[in-house]
Amino acid sequence: MSAPVIPGPHTSEELPPLPHWEQTPSDLKAAIREVKGALRARIAGSGRTVEEVFAVAEERVRVAVSEIVAAKRRGEAVWPTISYADIAAGTVSAEQLDLVRRRGCLVVRGHFERGQALGWDREIVDYVEGNAFFDNYRGPGDDFFGSVGSKPEIYPIYWSPAQMQARQSDRMANVQAFLNGQWKHESEGVQWFDPSRDSLYPDRIRRRPEGADSGGLGTHLDPGTLDLWMTESYQRAFRHLFDGTIEQYDPWDAAHRTAGPQYPGSTMCSAFRTFQGWTALSDMAHDQGVLHTVPIPEAMAYLMLRPLLPDVPDDDMCGVTVNQVFPASEKWHPLLMEALTAIPDVRAGDSVWWHADMIHSVAPVRDQQGWGNVMYIPAAPWCPRNERYAADVRAAFETGSSPSDFPEEHYERTWPDRFQPAQLNETGRRGLGL
Ligand SMILES: [Fe+2]
Repeated sequence: MSAPVIPGPHTSEELPPLPHWEQTPSDLKAAIREVKGALRARIAGSGRTVEEVFAVAEERVRVAVSEIVAAKRRGEAVWPTISYADIAAGTVSAEQLDLVRRRGCLVVRGHFERGQALGWDREIVDYVEGNAFFDNYRGPGDDFFGSVGSKPEIYPIYWSPAQMQARQSDRMANVQAFLNGQWKHESEGVQWFDPSRDSLYPDRIRRRPEGADSGGLGTHLDPGTLDLWMTESYQRAFRHLFDGTIEQYDPWDAAHRTAGPQYPGSTMCSAFRTFQGWTALSDMAHDQGVLHTVPIPEAMAYLMLRPLLPDVPDDDMCGVTVNQVFPASEKWHPLLMEALTAIPDVRAGDSVWWHADMIHSVAPVRDQQGWGNVMYIPAAPWCPRNERYAADVRAAFETGSSPSDFPEEHYERTWPDRFQPAQLNETGRRGLGL
């Protein structure tokens, strides 16, 4: 029998170094060629081949995909569901926690009382109608999402009392702390983030009416684009993929994730998020154009290594480029696509969460039954990166402007009933860095 393969004698300091670009390279194709060559050389220097390292990532994913496919065949839920009451009481079972870590996503049932969520939905309508939003709406500020007739599907609204009440609520803080706690936030003598303090990342609202037709959103991921391979901090964060120690890659390790830059672009998120999420403001059935994920956090290793295989052109990162979301595709990632799974039916007041590196999509729908209304509220814990962005958020909050990660639409600047600084509670002040 052959002995297990032991990585070579090199420490990562002895491996060929990687070139890095802290700002978007001016010649993207040249930089891709250069970094791919260097990544391959580094892996080779560790005594392993790219094919061998990729095979490890692929096998981990393959096991997860077959578990998910088998669970679906047995009619079992793939998305874990956890009741808010269990999170608040600290009584989430070990089995549930294990499933959350394996699937990287969950639904929190009863995160808010259903009546509270429906009330917020009505208040948002009053807020936008009272301020003549639809009369003044100038069309989508970006081409991320479509619009329905003259009314948008995504409302570029950030500062309604409803959104701010949800963001600074104890219930949101409890769930965010629970989610952040699934990540390893301290290592190498550094506290990478504070799991008990959220930075209140302001995002938009979606209200998709009954009867809507919507094209949905293709499979993609949001943590970054070429910067994931090209900046020094991401190269450190993904170090195990490129230094011969892929077995140690941990998608829940926040080391080197919370300080570095991201290349600017229309799709960027300045904040570090442990989980992306939204809170349902209407009941939604699982077949009405809802969110899907590939519920495998380890798939990130596959996505990061796949472009290094020889069938991908030297100046191509499997289609990843700046100013566009990171695409996941049937062409390059067919194994991953097999695991794409819809959320279960949700009710107003439930919230939906997925690991910030995970592939997700929104299914198309025709003649939607019921409303599809959500408030986007992620978990973005306090860390150097989010502290920096909080300065921009404070300025936007004070003037009712669109936050700097979003198109400069600024509808709410003159709206008198937007959420006011005096209404901030302790969580709200801490989240904005006040
Ligand atoms: Fe996304």
